Amino acid sequence: MEAISPKHLMTSLVIIIASSLTAHCGCAKRGGERPYKEANTLFIRTSCSSTTYPRLCYSSLVKHADLIQTNRVVLTGAALNVTLASVKSTSAMMSTLAKKQGLKPREVAAMQDCVEQLSDTVDELRRSIAEMSDLRASNFEMIMSDVQTWVSAALTDETTCNDGFQEITAATDIKSTVRRLVIQVAQLTSNALALINKLANS
Ligand SMILES: *[C@@H]1O[C@H](CO)[C@@H](O)[C@H](O)[C@H]1NC(C)=O
Repeated sequence: MEAISPKHLMTSLVIIIASSLTAHCGCAKRGGERPYKEANTLFIRTSCSSTTYPRLCYSSLVKHADLIQTNRVVLTGAALNVTLASVKSTSAMMSTLAKKQGLKPREVAAMQDCVEQLSDTVDELRRSIAEMSDLRASNFEMIMSDVQTWVSAALTDETTCNDGFQEITAATDIKSTVRRLVIQVAQLTSNALALINKLANS
């Protein structure tokens, strides 16, 4: 007999919980929405468990639970949207920081390089989101392959941005602020890529 893997066990557990929630819902008309919400958040938690930063994945996506429900394509699209929003705000913050007085020329140069790399990331994520909205059975493999390529490139650009700051040896406030922002963006991107890879292999 085939051994029961933890993954199978988890899937069965989700199905059992989801169906018991649905059963409850049939008899309770008032407040019947709540159990569905629980099934939706459980779906996000389970999907996020296969990413590298599951807690960040969950906290960034749970606010979109009503939209995601238990749809893997919508989940992946939401992860891309959340990542894009974070890249945009980080890039804006970095542009502001680059204009601060008292920065060393090397810091300003690294910051400007980063803004450029993040701008490439924005393009790659935008393209991915646009293609994902066109996803059909007939173009599934082609689009997933494009999106995998673009989001991997986005992750590389973010790493390059961070590496540029690593070369500045002095532990300045700017360096630590930039690191914190870019690490968050890279973690969201890495999570989105994990969800994309999972969807592509489904
Ligand atoms: C992602 O953003 C696009 C563009 O703003 C929007 O049309 C789409 O509904 C969003 N998708 C999700 C899953 O949030």
